[in-house]
Amino acid sequence: MVRYYVSIAVLALALTAAAQSLRDLADQRGIRIGAAADPSHFTETAYAGTLSREFNQIEPENAMKFQPIHPGIGAYSFGQADSIVAFGRQHSMAVRGHTLVWHSQVPDWVTKGGYTPEQLSTILQDHINTVVTHYAGQVYAWDVVNEAFNDDGTLRSTIWSGTPGYIEQALRWAHTADPAALLFVNDFSAEGINAKSDAIYKMAQDFVTRSVPLHGIGLQMHYTTGNTNLTGVDLNIQRLTALGLQVHITELDVRLPVNSSGTATPALLATQAQIYRDVMAICLKYPLCTSIQTWGFTDRYSWIPGTFPGFGAALPFDTAYQPKPAYTSMQSSLATAPPVIASAGMLNAASYAGGAVAPGEIVVFFGPTFGPAALTVAQSDSSGNFPVELAGVRLLFDGVPARLIYARTGQISGVVPFSTAGPAVRVQYEYQGILSNAVSLPVVAAVPGIFTLDSSGAGASAILDVAYKPVTEANAARRGDAIQIFATGGGLNLSETNVTVARGRALLRMVSGLGMPISSSVPRQFRRNLR
Ligand code: G3I
Repeated sequence: MVRYYVSIAVLALALTAAAQSLRDLADQRGIRIGAAADPSHFTETAYAGTLSREFNQIEPENAMKFQPIHPGIGAYSFGQADSIVAFGRQHSMAVRGHTLVWHSQVPDWVTKGGYTPEQLSTILQDHINTVVTHYAGQVYAWDVVNEAFNDDGTLRSTIWSGTPGYIEQALRWAHTADPAALLFVNDFSAEGINAKSDAIYKMAQDFVTRSVPLHGIGLQMHYTTGNTNLTGVDLNIQRLTALGLQVHITELDVRLPVNSSGTATPALLATQAQIYRDVMAICLKYPLCTSIQTWGFTDRYSWIPGTFPGFGAALPFDTAYQPKPAYTSMQSSLATAPPVIASAGMLNAASYAGGAVAPGEIVVFFGPTFGPAALTVAQSDSSGNFPVELAGVRLLFDGVPARLIYARTGQISGVVPFSTAGPAVRVQYEYQGILSNAVSLPVVAAVPGIFTLDSSGAGASAILDVAYKPVTEANAARRGDAIQIFATGGGLNLSETNVTVARGRALLRMVSGLGMPISSSVPRQFRRNLR
């Protein structure tokens, strides 16, 4: 059970959070908060209004499954799914696809067609290629394979099992059809540590090792109040994200025993709220836990009562679209869970070298799980100083705030305070008054890095001639020319540092704050679905 000691700042934040939708709060943290949707309800104002106000991600509950979207040989029916994609586009919501390969909802023309395994493999490849191609650029992530494992960790025997390595094959076919899409393997009862999640983890390790196009694991999280110990979930998300994979919580709902009118007791609603809070808090601990999605969002429309008689009330909104305690706990968890940082995210802003910092070094800090959704670039004041607080963000080195250059969720750039001294410095990140965990980094005399023209940390350097034109092969510098090399990390001796260049010597002027890489490639372990 995760407990929070509420500081005044946190309490204040929790109160302001009450005025913000889940979507606003999630945007501020660069995380996706989604809901599975049924387009047949879009004409219901309250349904469409709640969905677009509270969520920045949408996923078809059924419309993209094999049977609805591919009802006959060579016959595709995209209408329902297209309306969900259109809703997402209209409301600037990310669209997540579900699901390409599943043992359920497979149409009779496939299951009763008497096909050989080879023919089924061709049918599956055609299905994946056609559907993923149709939604390329519109669906950012797919549950490519759903529920492929048994509880004991063995592979489920399905109609698709005749294709050797069908999970890997399906991922490769999907990747070919849309190389930009994030590809997931999704399952239930594999949230914590057990034989099933061990088998999924083993598969993930193998796929990552062999560069099979798997980008993440989906944890469905269909819960009851019986399993409230989420320690195993934390450990499972930790080990999956340590592989560099993303984790999506894909189908969260917490079913409750209800009376004949579908109502649950306040005590059960409170337990449900705690589970929603804890699930949110665990995901927010991991930069690569990038999406939390509920399976539906209102008790008015949920699969639970039809599947589990005597159970219901599983979602954050009640049948009248009123927020329940589960909603409020998601809100406060999004607002008060502390940001999480890792020392590996602190890199030289020019070279992306990490592992240590130098006083005065311009750094870029990847990975903090909170921050302004939109990029905020600082302006220097009349005396040329950059601010120590930017859009609610501060970066502290032994408690001393760094001057900041830009900030957005997951990527902040600033200047290591010149007062920073070794042998190590304690770094904390603060957003809206809430401090992150502290990490320690060695302090060294210098971490020199030359900025590059494309902000990639490699390739052509930011070196200008007297006419402020880049010095390149075509515009080579001549002996005796004055050139400017934009660099950082020279340490305290900032005045002028001699550097050796080919067959000559030049003066290296350490500059700060210029040419900051903003669209730089985010290291894999910190990649998040930044909008
Ligand atoms: O659309 C047809 C309709 O034309 C027909 O008249 C009606 C009666 O037969 O059936 C309708 O299809 C139903 C479909 O939901 C749409 O409402 C299917 O019978 C019914 O089996 C299907 O249930 C869905 C179930 O997956 C099976 O696909 C549930 O709504 C959906 O919530 C559930 O979701 C699954 C995830 O995809 C995977 N993880 C588990 C989760 C819960 O089972």
